[in-house]
Amino acid sequence: MDRSQRKMDHIQHALATNEQQTNSFDEIRFVPNSLPNIYYGNLNLDVNLASFRLASPILINAMTGGAAATTTINQKLAIIAREKGLAMAVGSQMAALRDPSVRDSYSVVRKENPHGILFANIGAEATVEQALAAVEMLEADGLQIHLNVMQELLMPEGDRDFTGYLERIQRIRDQVPVPVLVKEVGFGMAKETIGKLIDIGIPMIDIGGRGGTNFAKVENMRRSTPLPMFDDWGLTTVESLLEARDWMEHGSSFIATGGIRHGLDVAKALALGADAVGIAGGFLRIVQTQSIEDALHTVDEWHHQLRVAMTALGIKRLKDFLHVPMILSGRSYDYAQQRQID
Ligand code: FNR
Repeated sequence: MDRSQRKMDHIQHALATNEQQTNSFDEIRFVPNSLPNIYYGNLNLDVNLASFRLASPILINAMTGGAAATTTINQKLAIIAREKGLAMAVGSQMAALRDPSVRDSYSVVRKENPHGILFANIGAEATVEQALAAVEMLEADGLQIHLNVMQELLMPEGDRDFTGYLERIQRIRDQVPVPVLVKEVGFGMAKETIGKLIDIGIPMIDIGGRGGTNFAKVENMRRSTPLPMFDDWGLTTVESLLEARDWMEHGSSFIATGGIRHGLDVAKALALGADAVGIAGGFLRIVQTQSIEDALHTVDEWHHQLRVAMTALGIKRLKDFLHVPMILSGRSYDYAQQRQID
């Protein structure tokens, strides 16, 4: 399968899989505060993410690059990032490391947003040299390393050898000049995985849970012999955040990606202890279906919804979400009980 065709298939199928309306965030409710003693106009959306200071907790997460047609998508995403002060990641740069002719589809994001916070993106199979080249290509401020075992297994042309990943991630962390973020792509992370990453000194972890774009479904749509029994593999974003609980006080920063649909989901992810959230499919949808002006308005709406939640709960700064009482129900509640998380 031609790599650039695969990129285009991913874009098309991703939009179909993240159309689902309900996910684990619907199993969380905030306990209201009828006397919040707060003014809407006096709220602060700044966050600290490892060594970064971000103007918004919303990050445009890794999606694309690697085919000529993806240049426009990355360009539009970079304009949104620039105009709204959002951090942004590009999709896996492994394509450009093998074929320099597609580099522009990635480096366009730095051209559009010379001063923004940008993350490079590679797979855990990358060498230290490839990691350094990916960072250099974007003049990136940070490096994302993605983990996507189930996606690879469902891809007919995918990787089959997953040995030595942790050691390679550690070597990359030791030798790249920017902070490293390890992320899942939508299958979630258990505390055992998180613990291993923290033990090797990874400062930012994106638990990337199920509930939004579903890469098992995306790959099954591309297969002539689908394996649909794996469509629901992994942990939801809420379950993954519960798994990260024990580690949240250990100095690592956590990002929640997977099915964030609006500002109230952002609020819930922060209340579960995330420092920031990533949105991928939601941004893909708006750049594919809206003008830049409307897309910027959509981001304003998400920020407004977050501010509404903050005001109604009486919190001025995002880190105060951690102390807001919540009620967990349904499968998320059962999960917390069985994994003994309170
Ligand atoms: C992705 N994602 C992704 N992640 C990554 O680390 N490297 C990559 O190359 C890609 N490629 C990619 C392509 C497309 C079209 C989409 C929609 C997504 C995964 C992405 O960063 C995120 O983890 C998941 O999409 C879940 O978030 P959403 O989409 O539910 O907000």
